[in-house]
Amino acid sequence: MISNNKICISNNWQYFNENESNKVTINIPHNNVNVPYSYFDEKIYQIISYYEKNINIENDKKRIFLKFDGVMTAFTLYVNGKKLSEQRGGYIPHSIEITDYVKVGENKIFVEVDSTERNDIPPFGYVVDYLTFGGIYRDVWKYELDNTFIKNLFFKYEILEHNGTYGKVKCMPIIQVDCLNDENIDIIYNILNNKVDTNINVKKGVNRYNLNEIIIENVELWSIENPKMNLCNVTLISDTSKDNASINVGFRDLKILHNGIFINNEKIKLMGLNRHQSFPYVGYAMPKRVQEEDAIILKEELGLNTVRCSHYPQSTYFLDKCDNIGLLVLEEIPGWQHISKDESWRNQVLDDVKAMIERDYNHPSIITWGVRINESGDDEELYTKTNNLAKELDDTRLTSGVRCYEGSQLLEGIYTMNDFVHNGGEDILRNRKTCTNLDYSVPYMVTEFCGHIYPTKKIDCEEKLVEHALRHARVQSCCKLDDEILGAIGWCAFDYNTHFDFGSGDRICYHGVMDMFRMPKFASYVYKSQKDIKKEVVLEPLTYWSRGEKQMGIVFPIYVFTNCNSIELKLNNISKGIFKREKQNLDEKLSGLNNPPIVINTINGEWGASWTDAEFIGYDENNNIVGSKKFCASVTYEDIKVDMYSNELYCDRLDATRISVKAIDKEGNILPFISDSIDIEVYGDIEVIGLNRLNFIGGSIAFWVKSKVLNNKSTAAIKIKSFYGYEKKLEINLI
Ligand code: GAL
Repeated sequence: MISNNKICISNNWQYFNENESNKVTINIPHNNVNVPYSYFDEKIYQIISYYEKNINIENDKKRIFLKFDGVMTAFTLYVNGKKLSEQRGGYIPHSIEITDYVKVGENKIFVEVDSTERNDIPPFGYVVDYLTFGGIYRDVWKYELDNTFIKNLFFKYEILEHNGTYGKVKCMPIIQVDCLNDENIDIIYNILNNKVDTNINVKKGVNRYNLNEIIIENVELWSIENPKMNLCNVTLISDTSKDNASINVGFRDLKILHNGIFINNEKIKLMGLNRHQSFPYVGYAMPKRVQEEDAIILKEELGLNTVRCSHYPQSTYFLDKCDNIGLLVLEEIPGWQHISKDESWRNQVLDDVKAMIERDYNHPSIITWGVRINESGDDEELYTKTNNLAKELDDTRLTSGVRCYEGSQLLEGIYTMNDFVHNGGEDILRNRKTCTNLDYSVPYMVTEFCGHIYPTKKIDCEEKLVEHALRHARVQSCCKLDDEILGAIGWCAFDYNTHFDFGSGDRICYHGVMDMFRMPKFASYVYKSQKDIKKEVVLEPLTYWSRGEKQMGIVFPIYVFTNCNSIELKLNNISKGIFKREKQNLDEKLSGLNNPPIVINTINGEWGASWTDAEFIGYDENNNIVGSKKFCASVTYEDIKVDMYSNELYCDRLDATRISVKAIDKEGNILPFISDSIDIEVYGDIEVIGLNRLNFIGGSIAFWVKSKVLNNKSTAAIKIKSFYGYEKKLEINLI
């Protein structure tokens, strides 16, 4: 459903559940149960819950639809007491026509949500390494439409020629129309100031029609560096109906070949991480801004060019942001290792393929459709169907399907492989031939590595955090040097809650390069330091700069992940030399990286020798100082540093933003072993998501605040006070 004739009805629902019959007023996105950060029984959210709301219908001539963007796991809608059919699948949108059940005036909507792990719906049937938090966790919309309306528009195009930045584009959009009776309609679409009019005889039902083609010259192309998006307006006019819709389109020439991925002829090596869409306390229920913020963290903060939406279609707000900032996406259907024999489960897989592609066809950031259950075995029957369906719905993208064993049957366009071979030893990545077992070349990429092979907590000791970083660095380096591997996507971006069958016994998999609060571990600097120095100077020595943290009291070697040209080390203000990317300062296994770390291996001193201040100074290629990182010998707790993503929140809908808090010394360095907590007080129409008292974890923590949805434009404030007395105040404008 893409019509503009819609309103968001996410605010003001009544909510209760099988354990708590008192109704409370809630706003969507909503998690059926607030969960603790860790050590909770995942059964607490696997319940039946109920949502109700009155909606107003003004015109009895309209067709009325409700669209639920995401409800976990299945739901049954009742309209004015009448039951409609059950909708299954927690990661795809569900549009339901309710015209025959409503009357002019007030109508009661009641939704029974089943958040249990249903064996008839993927990913369930066996164990799963993540949690599928319950509730109506994405927005809900009401559409009031005429007899005939625009259901979808697949903006198919072909780039006929281009110079890398501008191109000649042949637009061949396909419209999907829903109509009650056969009729003749006019469809006008507007793209880049070109108006294209097509007259079609449409047939009753939901069908696709090709619109008039048009060739446009000099179109600015979409790329990861210049993610140019264009608005396309579409209007439908007939004797009975009028409708309009708007979509965003980005034009790019994408080629995925066995020897490279090319966007507008530029070869791109994928460097990415997997993302789960979960957050502390609220599971999946985070609004648009927070979804967007994740994309920004991945692209702007970590400098990735790719994200894999593991292991299900994620929020369209997240994907829209990926389009807008140029972050490539691998999207896939829900599932985890298990393939059921159950007919309805298998049909759901096909429904998921269809819903995913129909929802997300127009995202230029999406480069492939994952049409296998993550890490499942071969199933020729099922995967022939998923592949055929994907090709029928979209012949412009290759399919892929993530496997974890060698020689799996290739029905897809890309062989995507989770290669966990690197366990710290000599083997870093297997080669393409070994994994595909094919004697011809196919596009091949690595979609996971590291993860459970080396779980690492932010609170772990320095050596562990460094080795975690080095494993990511070795794999990315090895991938860079191997032309037969199109890219590597590490496991994973953020720590995540999981079932008791996995993780550290506390329901958390500590596999992220950032923790669950999106606070960095050393491994995140591997990625960050690959950024172009023109965008940001990155200078991250992987050290806590202390004599007693590593075994034997040894401090060096220190890996400095940086995009500077060279590094000078000063101890007590005395230079110990300038370290360039010369053989003696490089780790051979990391030489494939764009910016391999500079390894400083100098005096180690002795246990018992006095300890000194240190400064790492970064130089650019012209030997200008561009950055510096100082460490104190005598580290003391001096302050807390607070950063807020947005100082504005919408007050007419549920909106939220993240605030990070770090315990720091006088140089601004984090105190990884601080034992302190913060109390958070809020003033005005905002609330803290989760707890108001938090302990630092590894020297930092973050939390989210949300607007109360009172439509009261005002200013709200947040006071953060640590137990040790450091205090910061922030203001948020509610707009
Ligand atoms: C993979 C799986 C991921 C995650 C990862 C942990 O096998 O696909 O979902 O469990 O292992 O390393």
